[in-house]
Amino acid sequence: MNLTGNTILITGGTSGIGLALAKQLNMLNNKVIICGRRAERLEEIRRVNAGIVTKVCDIADAQQRVDLTEWIFQNYPEINILINNAGVQLHTDFLRTGDLANIRKETEINFIAPIHFIQLFTSYLSRKESAAIINISSGLAFVPLAVAAVYSATKAAIHSLTLSLRYQLRNTTIKVFEIVPPSVDTELGYEHREDKTSTHGGMDVNEFASQVIDALQNDIYEAAIGTTANLRAKPQEMFDVLNRW
Ligand SMILES: NC(=O)c1ccc[n+]([C@@H]2O[C@H](COP(=O)([O-])OP(=O)(O)OC[C@H]3O[C@@H](n4cnc5c(N)ncnc54)[C@H](OP(=O)(O)O)[C@@H]3O)[C@@H](O)[C@H]2O)c1
Repeated sequence: MNLTGNTILITGGTSGIGLALAKQLNMLNNKVIICGRRAERLEEIRRVNAGIVTKVCDIADAQQRVDLTEWIFQNYPEINILINNAGVQLHTDFLRTGDLANIRKETEINFIAPIHFIQLFTSYLSRKESAAIINISSGLAFVPLAVAAVYSATKAAIHSLTLSLRYQLRNTTIKVFEIVPPSVDTELGYEHREDKTSTHGGMDVNEFASQVIDALQNDIYEAAIGTTANLRAKPQEMFDVLNRW
């Protein structure tokens, strides 16, 4: 698809993949709107990146999702691309008493919120000449990381959802993409890292964002970036590699 002259909402643009995509898409002359919970970060990003629009929104809250969508339709009616990017990764230990509140929150952010945004945006986007919904899943959608059991399950669910959505929208102008990231060096999972100064490791986030843009421009509807191709091709072998503990 053409990646200039669009108006794009990226959920979760205060760090990592969302921020790297926002900067690169902004440089390609798209109007980019990002959201997140951290107001100071959003303000700083807006200050140093002319053109990026920011809005504080906690996507775990359904009313805030509705308010954000209405605000966008009112102020940026030309919106034609939704990128469901925001996510959190928690650890789930089934041998300990479960923390249901955290499980609900992780599922709300990673799975319910993207579904809700899709519901809110689809009929609006279907009236556009060219539009897209882009879901960020994970290599862990195809091979779970057992310590991140709920996270991996939400990403498998996003993969399944994207298949159904693409089929349902096949006769509309909306293209439906799934981006399948490998391990990318971002703040993901920062909360449960013992050493807070350590990095997530993995692919450089700007290189990752460039490859995403390349995939979108080439209409690769299920874009497995970097090593994730292996996870899809050899799930059992890769399960053993990922889960050596
Ligand atoms: N990094 C990887 O290795 C990797 C691999 C596969 C898939 N992914 C996926 O890529 C996506 C982006 O993650 P990342 O790696 O870029 O991690 P990140 O650096 O931690 O960024 C996550 C973003 O999501 C936002 N977010 C989280 N909860 C939110 C909420 N309740 N409301 C609004 N925004 C929220 C955060 O903003 P605030 O904190 O300001 O709210 C932040 O901007 C996620 O869906 C993740 O699952 C990442």
